[in-house]
This record gives sequence, C-alpha cells and structure tokens, in this order.
Amino acid sequence: MASTFRIGGDLDVGRLGFGAMHLPTGPGPDRDNALAVARRAVELGVTLIDTAHLYGGGANEELLAEALHPYPEGLLITTKVGVARTGPGGDWKLDGRPEILRDQVRQALRRLRMERIDLLQLHRIDPETPLADQLGTLRELQAEGLVGRIGLSEVTVDELERARELVDVVSVQNRYNLLDREHEAVLDACAAAGIAFLPWRPVAWGSTGAEAVVAAVAAELGARPTQVALAWLLDRAPVVLPIPGTARIEHLEENLAAADLKLTPAQRDRLDGLAGGARAESV
Ligand SMILES: NC(=O)c1ccc[n+]([C@@H]2O[C@H](COP(=O)([O-])OP(=O)(O)OC[C@H]3O[C@@H](n4cnc5c(N)ncnc54)[C@H](OP(=O)(O)O)[C@@H]3O)[C@@H](O)[C@H]2O)c1
Repeated sequence: MASTFRIGGDLDVGRLGFGAMHLPTGPGPDRDNALAVARRAVELGVTLIDTAHLYGGGANEELLAEALHPYPEGLLITTKVGVARTGPGGDWKLDGRPEILRDQVRQALRRLRMERIDLLQLHRIDPETPLADQLGTLRELQAEGLVGRIGLSEVTVDELERARELVDVVSVQNRYNLLDREHEAVLDACAAAGIAFLPWRPVAWGSTGAEAVVAAVAAELGARPTQVALAWLLDRAPVVLPIPGTARIEHLEENLAAADLKLTPAQRDRLDGLAGGARAESV
C-alpha cells in the first residue's frame, strides 16, 4: 500500500503523521523536550502534523513554529478552529460563529508564521450556528487566499454529505482505532470519495497491548502493540492518515517505524475481528 497520500489532489504527505496535542508548551525542560520531539518527527520524515487552536489556546501552534519555522518544503501543518473560550479564562465550548472562525484563523496564521493554512479543519460543527455560515466563512477565507483546503472533524456520514454540498471537503478527522470502530461508516464514506481520513486516538492512548490478540500479533512480528495498532490502520485503507501523539522521542521513533510493519492476511483477519468490526469488502 502506498506510503504517501495526496490530500485534496495537491497536498502530498507521508501517511503516518504526528499529533502535536500532547506536547507541553509551558516554559522549562518539558518545553525543550517538546521542541526536540517536533524536530525529530520532521527529521524522521513526518510531513503531516496536526494541531489546533484549542491546544493551549494557540500555544501548541506557537510551539510548532518555534520548533520548525522556517518550514521545510513539503511539511503540512494543519490546524483546527471552532472551539473557543466563553470569555477570558472561561470554559471551552463549540463556537463556529463566523467572527470566531475568522479570528482563530488570523491567530493561527500569526502564531504559525504562515501566509496561508494549507489545510484548515473545522474542529467540530457548532450546532448553534448554521452549517452554511460556518462553512461559508471557511470558503470565504479560502477565496481570500488565507486557507488552502478544508477539512472536518468528528462528523457523521450525514454531516459529511451536507458539508460537501457547501464546500470541497478534503479531510475528515474522527476518533478511530483498532479497539474503537464507531466511525467505520465515515471511514468507508471517505474511502469511497477519496477524502483523507485522519483517525485520532490512533494508538488508543497506548492501551492496545491489553488485548490478547494484539499482544499475540505483536509478539509474532517482534513489534510493539502500538505499532500493530498503527500498521492495522495503515492497512485499513489508502486514505487513512494516522496522527499518533506523544511527548517522548522513543515513542515517536517506535510509532514511525510502524510504517514498515507488514501484517499477514491471517493477522489482519484476527485484528479486524476485534471490537466486533469487520472491514467492508469494497475498501
Ligand atoms: N479532532 C479531534 O477532536 C481530536 C481529539 C483528540 C486528539 N486529536 C489529535 O489526534 C492526535 C492523537 O490523538 P490522541 O492523543 O487522543 O491519541 P493517541 O495518539 O492514540 O494517544 C496518545 C497517548 O498515547 C501515548 N503513546 C503514544 N505513542 C505511544 C507508544 N508508542 N507507546 C506507549 N504509549 C504511547 C502517549 O503518551 P506518551 O506521551 O507518554 O508517549 C499519549 O498519552 C492528537 O495529538 C491530536 O493532534 C484530535
């Protein structure tokens, strides 16, 4: 299966990305380590990094810029907007009002030191704001040249279809892993339409080894259970682009090495059977 995927027809990325959410952003040795992890990810060939305004209210975007700017050719840093504080120090809540989306995009451009966000994802659809207003705003930002392509996060098949009537959706980011197949139908819809599917929580917080089947397959391959979880995702469909997150270089290196792991058809069948899921014949 190809090791790269072309998002929206023009953004080429390696299929195994990196989720930056876990990188600590406060000052001190933890921040130095976080900068080192982000740099090591790129050094090891990662070309897809996921962040969001929500992660530290922009602090995670700033950290990535500090670690990686000026960005190497071909690196896609994608961010998400649409979750905002209710006020200074207030709670985070879904907020897809046009002025909020615009403001968070402006902040992201400044923090990431970019002129354009090549892939912008709507973190959640805000049920209190008309979908046409939310996506209309992203389309306007696209027309203004501030946003390249548009993605969604945590959507149903129905929401995806409705969104596609309003904008060209090139990616979907939903929770999905070996042990959690709730969004199987969304993945299948993405695969059918050639839309990138970025499963979040791809290594299930590193918990997959607790499943006897995963532990057994890992032992057969001489690999870690987390690597089996990632290899299974990569094997699931060519549109799947996992974004495992870690604040540890050893876990990062381990996760990226999963791209070289090959499951046998029998191992794939045993893993498919976990969580009561079986892949669709058509994918
Ligand atoms: N769209 C959304 O709503 C949404 C929601 C959540 C997350 N995300 C994105 O998805 C990315 C990944 O999701 P996630 O962080 O929820 O789940 P995840 O990547 O499955 O799990 C991350 C956790 O697993 C541990 N881990 C990672 N690699 C490991 C390894 N090789 N061995 C053992 N433990 C390992 C990490 O701890 P260590 O630091 O100790 O390695 C971390 O606590 C995030 O970074 C974020 O970019 C998106």
